[in-house]
Amino acid sequence: MSKDELNVDSPVYPKHVGIIMDGNGRWATKRGLPRTAGHYEGIKAAKRVTTEASRLGIPFLTYYVFSTENWRRPDQEVSYLMDLFSSRIFSEIDYYKRIDARLLCRGNLQALSRNAQEAIAATVDATASHQRITVTLALNYGGQDEIVRSVNRWLSSRKEASVITEQDIRDFSDLPHVPPVDLIVRAGGEKRLSNFLLWDSAYAELAFYDTLWPDWGAKDLRIACEEYAHRTRRFGGVPT
Ligand code: IPE
Ligand code: IPE
Ligand code: MG
Repeated sequence: MSKDELNVDSPVYPKHVGIIMDGNGRWATKRGLPRTAGHYEGIKAAKRVTTEASRLGIPFLTYYVFSTENWRRPDQEVSYLMDLFSSRIFSEIDYYKRIDARLLCRGNLQALSRNAQEAIAATVDATASHQRITVTLALNYGGQDEIVRSVNRWLSSRKEASVITEQDIRDFSDLPHVPPVDLIVRAGGEKRLSNFLLWDSAYAELAFYDTLWPDWGAKDLRIACEEYAHRTRRFGGVPT
């Protein structure tokens, strides 16, 4: 991590919040509904939280939407999710315009259907000039996979053999201009990262909540940000 990336004077609120939206399936099962109903509600929760993040002035938000490991789920659940992304997330241009949100994606998008890739590209394009908040969707995303893809991009940029640095890994990552994540919150009770933002989370603050993701809302985001505001970030140094 280079010195000027160190956020030593930690701001009151995080600049970049990563969100692990977990618990959709359990939310639905508890209500006797199919797991897919939880994913549908989960999108509504993401919209509530995004609106609040924009209102609070948090400039970067990254949602863990679908992991490289989530292909292990039943085919029917995977295809429901893919349709949901294309029909609900990538067709919300008016909403992104209203909250002045720019949409980006992070992950290996080449493995997605042509339709999904086109929908993503169109939304990224249509929102490119929006400035208040950058919302990144981590889609077919794995932290380990991103590091491997960064190294491979770096390798193909080289004419002769050399030694890779930490800065190179960052520069060749999926989104080098998005700053490292300050705070990662996880809904749904599990206390793990599940392969989310492994490189960038080196000094992230972590916060875990039992509330299942579809029940999340603006208040939960504010509570997480308040908790963050009371943490002391030292980056290996001593308190100032
Ligand atoms: C997270 O909720 C959504 C995705 C991984 C797409 P889950 O579907 O993992 O919900 P639980 O953990 O089974 O309750
Ligand atoms: C993490 O949730 C992935 C996303 C939220 C997209 P999972 O439900 O897939 O994680 P595990 O399997 O409990 O670790
Ligand atoms: Mg889960």
